[in-house]
Amino acid sequence: MVALEIKLKNVECSVEKLDDRLLILDTDEHNVQKLRRLQTITRLERMLIEIPYSRSMKEFRINCRKALIELDGIVTKESIVSARGQGVKRKRLLVILREIQRLFKCKLSRSLGDVDLSIRFLSNRYIVSLNVGTFQPLYRRWYTYYKSRASIHPIIAAAMSIIAGRSREMLDPFCGSLTIPIEYLRMWPCTYATCIDIDRVTVLNSIRNALLSEIYDRMLIILSDFFNIKLRKNYDLIVTDPPRGLRLRSSIAFYEKFFRRSIEFLSSNGKIVTIVFEKDLRRILRGLPQNFQVEMPLRTVQGGYRVCILSIHVR
Ligand SMILES: C[S@@+](CC[C@H](N)C(=O)[O-])C[C@H]1O[C@@H](n2cnc3c(N)ncnc32)[C@H](O)[C@@H]1O
Repeated sequence: MVALEIKLKNVECSVEKLDDRLLILDTDEHNVQKLRRLQTITRLERMLIEIPYSRSMKEFRINCRKALIELDGIVTKESIVSARGQGVKRKRLLVILREIQRLFKCKLSRSLGDVDLSIRFLSNRYIVSLNVGTFQPLYRRWYTYYKSRASIHPIIAAAMSIIAGRSREMLDPFCGSLTIPIEYLRMWPCTYATCIDIDRVTVLNSIRNALLSEIYDRMLIILSDFFNIKLRKNYDLIVTDPPRGLRLRSSIAFYEKFFRRSIEFLSSNGKIVTIVFEKDLRRILRGLPQNFQVEMPLRTVQGGYRVCILSIHVR
């Protein structure tokens, strides 16, 4: 998804997947500014050096010295260095930090320093990278004044928006705190969203999110029950996160009802992008109307539960 967004937003950089999370991005300062605005990333880091693994601590220390010297200019005597290890044994992390301190005579800090490093162990080497993203995690978007009881993660909403693709107007019939419409409208300029929610307090608070997001002029927010509403037009796209059901008796039945109702508002060749619990996937797919064609579900985790993003074409 990150790679797709990079392509979509014309950021010039090379991308290499190292593990589930890490992407190496070879780019210049101008493109780093563009990367900071991506909606599908949580944290932006610049890879600095690699330290080869060695079983013997003595040899490892020598490897560290050789590699860390390259941090000259990034770490200086005046720097306050902080570091977080990911998958790195504490003893090894301490060796790396002590070598940094010894080489550059800098200070180390347990809280956030002005040089914030990440040290990971990947494929028999330690990778030291510099945090160049915001210090506020990007997933805490500034517009989230209000979170509904089951707000979706903004990064998943951004991924759903990429999967959905550009459409002049989208419908979110269970909009909650507006995470999906806001991410969608930010992803695709010059598009509009119709947002529906049944809960008065949710809608009132969501209006604040809409104002904070500064794209409220591209949204229509309606307080109503999706199953009773009368809408005058049809939509090419529905992107939504329906109540998935910890409080529902049967989320499968709810999804069936949702799909049946959606057909009434979809234009021919319309598309639904939605999210379902992975455990319910099979049964939901089995109950789909015949004219629904599902693309490969994309698996992820939301609020500690395994979920799938479904993209459905209605023929
Ligand atoms: C899973 S939440 C959506 C969360 C939202 N994506 C967010 O990030 O905040 C489902 C929402 O559907 C709303 N809802 C439940 N039944 C509804 C109905 N029949 N019509 C419209 N909205 C409904 C609930 O009030 C709730 O806000």
